[in-house]
Amino acid sequence: MSNNETTGEVTEAQIAVHWQEEEYFYPSTEFIAQANMTDKGIFDRFSLDNIPECYKEYADLLTWDKYWEKTLDTSDAPCWKWFVGGKINVSYNCIDRHLAQYKNKAAFIYVPEPEQEPHQPITYQELYVRVNEMAALLRDFAGVKTGDRVTIHMPMVPELPITMLACARLGAIHSVVFGGFSGRACGERIGDSGSKILVTMDAYYRSGKLLEHKDKADEAVKVADEEGVTVEKVLVWQRYPGKSSSKTPMQEGRDFFVNDVLKQYWGQRVEPVQMPAEAPLFLMYTSGTTGRPKGCQHSTGGYLAYVAGTSKYVQDIHPEDVYWCMADIGWITGHSYIVYGPLALAATSIIFEGVPTYPDAGRAWRIAQQLDVNIFHTAPTTVRMLRKAGPDEPPKYDYHFKHMTTVGEPIEPAVWRWYYEVVGKGEAAIVDTWWQTENGGFLCSTIPALHGMKPGSAGPAVPGIHPIIYDEDGNEVPAGSNKAGNICIQNPWPGAFQTIWGDRDRYVRQYYERYCKDPNSKDWRAWPYLTGDAAMQAPDGYYRILGRIDDVINVAGHRLGTKEIESACLLVQEVAEASVVPMADEIRGRVPVIFVSLKPGFSPSEEIQKKVVLSVEDTIGKIARPAAVYIVHDMPKTRSGKIMRRVLAAITNRVDVGDITTLANPEVVEEVKKMVQS
Ligand code: PRX
Repeated sequence: MSNNETTGEVTEAQIAVHWQEEEYFYPSTEFIAQANMTDKGIFDRFSLDNIPECYKEYADLLTWDKYWEKTLDTSDAPCWKWFVGGKINVSYNCIDRHLAQYKNKAAFIYVPEPEQEPHQPITYQELYVRVNEMAALLRDFAGVKTGDRVTIHMPMVPELPITMLACARLGAIHSVVFGGFSGRACGERIGDSGSKILVTMDAYYRSGKLLEHKDKADEAVKVADEEGVTVEKVLVWQRYPGKSSSKTPMQEGRDFFVNDVLKQYWGQRVEPVQMPAEAPLFLMYTSGTTGRPKGCQHSTGGYLAYVAGTSKYVQDIHPEDVYWCMADIGWITGHSYIVYGPLALAATSIIFEGVPTYPDAGRAWRIAQQLDVNIFHTAPTTVRMLRKAGPDEPPKYDYHFKHMTTVGEPIEPAVWRWYYEVVGKGEAAIVDTWWQTENGGFLCSTIPALHGMKPGSAGPAVPGIHPIIYDEDGNEVPAGSNKAGNICIQNPWPGAFQTIWGDRDRYVRQYYERYCKDPNSKDWRAWPYLTGDAAMQAPDGYYRILGRIDDVINVAGHRLGTKEIESACLLVQEVAEASVVPMADEIRGRVPVIFVSLKPGFSPSEEIQKKVVLSVEDTIGKIARPAAVYIVHDMPKTRSGKIMRRVLAAITNRVDVGDITTLANPEVVEEVKKMVQS
């Protein structure tokens, strides 16, 4: 399936589990009766021939300051510009326009992790006030102007979307870094985006502990400085306003408590800046094939139109629904489907601070019961975790979901069934949504009232998305042939990212070069978008996603670059070489396993293993913590000296190592096998 065989790389797709075709499940008549989308005609309206004009239907869900003149401008192919000439403000669309009808309705309900702390509903009116005041602070105290980047490194608290929406109100570009990432990872992203302002929080709860967070800001500022970017102000929200929850001192003249400074801005209102539709709204960094994460640049009008449309038709969100997406806002799922999509539709969106199995396996279902959640959204890794921790918990609680989502990784049919029967009580329609940070919103999923659900398959493409599967040589794999290949999208769509921040060449190279039909063409038909996933399509048109074809590991639904992890290992003084491979894991889908060899003069020790783990955690974050670190005396290599990751991955996953006769050092294979498999 991939030419990686010859280069010695291994891909997730090659260790994918190929489960059997499953039968269909159908949504209930009650669900269909209330669904937002019950018209099969949507697929004709969004046919390939109707690209790009069909997307007017999504853009019309929004309130424009100035209507656009051109739906799609392809003159700078493959950097697509949507709704050109249009002016719009995202914060206005997510807040102000709902006030007349919904000012007293909860926009967010914040659920702190400690159960003794009360839930905090934030009405649309209150959100309006808080976003305006924060926007005034950012503009007048921090000097943030339209187009400036603001890095936000925060946990799951309402002050996070408040800060994002305040940036959007000003037309400033936010760059949210997942709260669990290390200070170093945050600093590198500040360096890349050139943001002069860092917004953070002093502490947050996770598994019952109030974790220090401000220390990461100090590290981030230091790293950004090494990258040539001076952070002028660090704005620190407090988990308990007025009370210090962090031991890290504030630096005079640089660090400020937001709630102190905000007092000067109480009652202030900031006119939403009318932004060009194609102005960037935010950056979201993600892992790729090289060591450095890339900043996916998302647009204002196109992005909001796409997340509003897909939230309405795939998530089936109505204003009266109580919607809970358990992702972190620090990932694209949280941006699109906790904040922007739901708020554009005037929904009530829950923000949960903690882990869903703390203090016990019933926590998530107690929240669902108490808030009467009816739409639930999470990743297979969390479903597996909840199933393991409390397989019989959900029926003990009185809640009823009409709709559930899975996102981020393939879901095994057995896990899907537990989700459907036990969590959803057989009542909820499920959508398995396949997409990526780069895409802004869903690519493949069933439309819940229109299609049957097939466990283990993401479903057909959503309206307006037209996938195509190519083989290695650029031939089209016949549609519906159940043959695996590299899945691409033939057409642009408004949610797609615009470029990689500061690196247009890398954007073109990585996503559009492989199957480009004519590099000089200004016609979008010449530029299929390479997703980087392997997939197969069944005769019924449903796609099954097999995993990444590049050096990316999908850990618990989150992307990590093997090169990023390897670079972190090489920071350990004793380490000469490092190789990271994905290992199938019962709960997290895939986990990284590390092999290192040492420089001459050093011998293997537990201490070195620990140093490697620490270096990975410090450089990236705990999410990248390896399942194991093996110190080998040599790596399996080709005669040209390339490490054969394929062999290491095969050993780790206890599958056949294949042909090793061409290795320079085949004897190493047995040695590594003994170490790993005994
Ligand atoms: O391999 C695919 C997998 O997650 C990758 C994208 O990761 P990220 O950019 O972090 O975004 C995750 C949330 C949108 C994809 O290239 N993936 C995502 N959703 C699914 C999936 N694999 C199988 N089924 C899915 N539903």
